[in-house]
Amino acid sequence: MNQGDFPEIISKLPQFGTSIFARMTELANRHQAVNLAQGFPDFSPPSELIDALADAARNGHNQYAPMPGVLKLREQLAERIYRQYQFQLDPGSQITVTAGATQAIYTVISTFTKPGDKVIIFEPAYDSYAPSVLVNGGVPIYLRLQEPLFSIPWNQLEDTLKSGDIRMMIVNNPHNPSATVLSADDMMKLVKMVRQYNTLIIWDEVYDLLTFDQLIHQSALLYEEIIEQSIVVYSLGKTLHNTGWKLGYIVARSELTAEIRKLHQFTVFSVHTPSQYAVAAFMSEFPEFFDGLAGFYQEKRDQFYTLVSDCGLQWLNTKGSYFMLAGFRHLGNITDMEAAQRLTELCGVACVPISAFYHDHYDSGILRFCFAKKKETLSEAAFRLKQIHQHNIFNK
Ligand SMILES: Cc1ncc(COP(=O)(O)O)c(C=O)c1O
Repeated sequence: MNQGDFPEIISKLPQFGTSIFARMTELANRHQAVNLAQGFPDFSPPSELIDALADAARNGHNQYAPMPGVLKLREQLAERIYRQYQFQLDPGSQITVTAGATQAIYTVISTFTKPGDKVIIFEPAYDSYAPSVLVNGGVPIYLRLQEPLFSIPWNQLEDTLKSGDIRMMIVNNPHNPSATVLSADDMMKLVKMVRQYNTLIIWDEVYDLLTFDQLIHQSALLYEEIIEQSIVVYSLGKTLHNTGWKLGYIVARSELTAEIRKLHQFTVFSVHTPSQYAVAAFMSEFPEFFDGLAGFYQEKRDQFYTLVSDCGLQWLNTKGSYFMLAGFRHLGNITDMEAAQRLTELCGVACVPISAFYHDHYDSGILRFCFAKKKETLSEAAFRLKQIHQHNIFNK
């Protein structure tokens, strides 16, 4: 090869660039803004968990873990699922530990999507779904959730399912970014509709423990009729305040799990060993930790709402997840991307424009804020947000 002759790069994802989260975080850092853009806590995981991680490494758990995950951890996860949903899982054949929910979702999509397969994605959607479908030659079928409540477009969904050949559907509940949850009625309707078709469903339940005001999370695991066609994905990062450990897991019946593991073994093979031992030890010592999580985040939600309710934005109700949405169009007619940039640059608070969660950048003038932050961070963000009028943020 002559110098300067490089192999041509033919992108498999030409329409995607750096994610909005990375871009907003970079902008936030540049302007010393309070970063409420990316979804991660700014507080530490429990100290006992960090100690358990050090212990695991010191005690020699430093080589490859078993491909499906450390058995002790899978047993703990099965117990937690049973406590939560009274659903009995076989840790040996129905749980697979992954490098976060993102890898779990990618691996499941890759396992079951062949070129040309159609996959229903409700928008706004977590940003990894569509690229994972596209890179496997699948065809995303986008259905827009209906504002103001971000409800499922039932007629459109039924027509799409009826039109045939839908290989898979991805349902995120509690939902990021809208912070809504599915009700038992929604679930019953959904179950009735999908049972007639042999469509697989990926349930992204990474925020399953974060539902508020006594709302019971309607996990797919509570609906026996659809278990055969369901694959449920969880993230430990969202529940143990350690998103950087990148631990997640997949729950599915044995036949689906066996197929998923074929791909899992060739993509990551196995996941960071000491973290798995640490989480297993922590879960067995503090099984009640998860029970307090909804209350912990509900307090943060309420704190944040009280602090920002009079800043001029129109805040939407958060029923689940650790995000809160706010409308700004009554204050000015700029795009949500411009609004997010100006808030970061002029007010010093970073958030995410919701158009980033739509493939066609649909923009209804809404911004997403993450409240998984220390009280001081939320107070500082609120103090800055109150200067919106002063800076005339939303006018061109
Ligand atoms: C809806 C949703 N699914 C999946 C993930 C990914 O989780 P993880 O960090 O475990 O990969 C996130 C993270 O923000 C999310 O919001």
